[in-house]
Amino acid sequence: MIGKLNHVAIAVPDLKAAAATYRDTLGAKVSPPQAEPDHGVTVVFVELPNTKIELLHPMGETSPIQGFLDKNPSGGIHHVCYEVDDILAARDHLKGRGARVLGDGEPRTGAHGKPVLFLHPKDFNGTLIELEQA
Ligand code: CO
Repeated sequence: MIGKLNHVAIAVPDLKAAAATYRDTLGAKVSPPQAEPDHGVTVVFVELPNTKIELLHPMGETSPIQGFLDKNPSGGIHHVCYEVDDILAARDHLKGRGARVLGDGEPRTGAHGKPVLFLHPKDFNGTLIELEQA
């Protein structure tokens, strides 16, 4: 059911420093910071040949990333995003297998303008999973 790895999201305490690490130390192509106020984050996209890394920094007091950074002050992997062809079919399949979908279970428009859902990390080995309809 899941397809390509769309991205790995990493929460970072210092977006400028993290972007510089990926650009200068790791030699990757990085985007300018992009504000995503609807999602409470500022994002730098790191383009790799086969996937993307998203460096997430909290934007605003209620950002979901802030709580993560409070627990992980030096940053860390926040979620992985897998592509699916049909997000509603994927959701129904997962629910039928006992997996918990976060929120009200209805897909939202994600950072790339496509429908996304998040799955409970406790059902997936401690990893927050985002599904995106490709
Ligand atoms: Co994501």
